[in-house]
Amino acid sequence: MKSTLATLLALASAAVAENGVLNFPLNRGMPHFRVGNVRQNVKRDTYSQALINNITGGAYYAEVTVGTPGQKVSVVLDTGSSDLWVVSYKADLCTDSSIQRKSGDSCDKTYNPNKSSSYKVLLEGGFEIRYLDNSTAAGDYITDNLNIGGTTIKSLQMGYATKTVRGAGILGVGYSSNVASTQRYPNLIDQFVAQKLITTKAYSLYLNDRRSDTGGILFGGIDKDKFIGDLSILPIYMAKGQAEPIHFEVEMQSVSLDLTKNGKTTKIISTDPSLSQTSTIAILDSGTTLSYLPTKITDQIHAKLSVYVDDIWTGLTFIDCKYLTSNPDLRLSFTFGSNATVSVPVWELVLDLLGETQSELPFKLPFQRACIFGIQSTSGFQEDGFDEDWALLGETFLRSAYVVYDLTHHQIGIAQANLNSTTTDIVELTGADGGLPSGLTGVKEQQTSKDPSGNAESGSGSSTDEDGAKETETVTAGSTTATGTAASGAKESDSAAAGLSAKGGAAGALAVAGLTGFFALVGGAVFAL
Ligand SMILES: *[C@@H]1O[C@H](CO)[C@@H](O)[C@H](O)[C@H]1NC(C)=O
Ligand SMILES: *[C@@H]1O[C@H](CO)[C@@H](O)[C@H](O)[C@H]1NC(C)=O
Ligand SMILES: *[C@@H]1O[C@H](CO)[C@@H](O)[C@H](O)[C@H]1NC(C)=O
Ligand SMILES: *[C@@H]1O[C@H](CO)[C@@H](O)[C@H](O)[C@H]1NC(C)=O
Ligand SMILES: *[C@@H]1O[C@H](CO)[C@@H](O)[C@H](O)[C@H]1NC(C)=O
Repeated sequence: MKSTLATLLALASAAVAENGVLNFPLNRGMPHFRVGNVRQNVKRDTYSQALINNITGGAYYAEVTVGTPGQKVSVVLDTGSSDLWVVSYKADLCTDSSIQRKSGDSCDKTYNPNKSSSYKVLLEGGFEIRYLDNSTAAGDYITDNLNIGGTTIKSLQMGYATKTVRGAGILGVGYSSNVASTQRYPNLIDQFVAQKLITTKAYSLYLNDRRSDTGGILFGGIDKDKFIGDLSILPIYMAKGQAEPIHFEVEMQSVSLDLTKNGKTTKIISTDPSLSQTSTIAILDSGTTLSYLPTKITDQIHAKLSVYVDDIWTGLTFIDCKYLTSNPDLRLSFTFGSNATVSVPVWELVLDLLGETQSELPFKLPFQRACIFGIQSTSGFQEDGFDEDWALLGETFLRSAYVVYDLTHHQIGIAQANLNSTTTDIVELTGADGGLPSGLTGVKEQQTSKDPSGNAESGSGSSTDEDGAKETETVTAGSTTATGTAASGAKESDSAAAGLSAKGGAAGALAVAGLTGFFALVGGAVFAL
């Protein structure tokens, strides 16, 4: 199905519910920034939401509705965890200013079960999730209806958080093997299939250009207009003896720093041979802001780009902001499987987030203007005795990729993203071939398309259902916390040290723990050390 921009409105902001394929827009924003709502009617059978956000960097979140009638809540999309939870109207964070000060966040849109006729308590006090940055949310497990992507999942089990340090809930779209509950339950993606909305547990994720306002998640389908070249299919990695996957882990073959000049690409740095012999296990995690690579890779990249590594105060790597513009042809390329390559422009990895806090840093940076570098090393975690050959690929990587997650067949489809794509060409995922369809090819090259956010000003959100009844959605950007949630939930039995024994889990845990300083920085006005 091809659609034009006019039909879809700001591309990724369009939600399509056709042929069992559900496209759901993700809103992207930094904490504590709010923008306005716009509404607009579109054609029958389509469901689209406006996404307006002038802030770059930060979390990807979606506005969904919970209950009957639907209450709007914002949730951060997280491929690294598996529970959906929403913030209670009477959560401690909403009423206690000392918690707000400490966490640098406050409540925005909350959920009141007393106002929902479809709400049921499942397990009073039974919900508790600990993310790997050590933040927690706790309350009840409940069931209620969830409206997402223009469809309704009935009686979905979710967390109802009365204790939280985050003002926005989390939408975990990982394996249900990783839910926080000791008792496994069918989570969102399981219910998509169980309720016969889609046929295979799969979705595609398109975070899009850092400078763009919108990305999207497409349940049950692949949009061929959103990637360039072949979609490569990789098995989801499992350690020997592992019965089923818990995280989205793939084998990464190599990383290189490339310079393209006059159509010729030179490798400035290529990962050392020892790495190409033993591939690195990489976790794909949309809930983590930065990306982490083994030290033997980052050492070379960091030296070449003259970064400043602060081991003492923040644990972060800083880069001269001049790289935002100075070397547009410098790219970092990641290779997976036999021939999948995703290449990320270096400027995409330069996060201009310090602002005024720059002068408040307790150390002097050797740049006139310092930015946070999107590639950090795993070295901070070495002391805990973990295998250093792991990688955590967060938003700074994922924005350049189009990634298909197939949880039924344990496969990842990956290709270079076609940024700012304004058209769609959707292939439904049926699992007919016993996995993701092979030989799928996207567009030939990066489209030099119109800036979609130019349209977003008049952007929109609304849908008409089959009966023509108007059902309007509005979207508000901002006011979530940054996503630090690469997390596996901490089951009682699986917390702390125990949870760290699985390779992937360990990597995620440590990496996210390391982000705490970062979130303090972007999430609050003060730099709390
Ligand atoms: C972003 O939007 C907010 C709210 O609409 C506004 O206050 C702010 O000035 C905008 N920032 C920029 C950089 O345009
Ligand atoms: C519903 O409202 C009652 C009375 O105000 C309150 O006691 C109760 O805790 C509320 N239920 C939930 C789940 O918040
Ligand atoms: C995480 O929280 C627990 C309980 O509050 C605390 O004992 C532990 O030290 C914290 N860990 C880190 C890394 O902050
Ligand atoms: C995508 O759109 C943003 C603005 O929304 C623009 O800044 C950026 O340059 C565009 N990227 C490409 C690759 O065209
Ligand atoms: C690798 O490339 C070859 C030829 O370019 C192609 O036929 C094959 O399908 C590709 N394999 C994968 C896994 O993408």
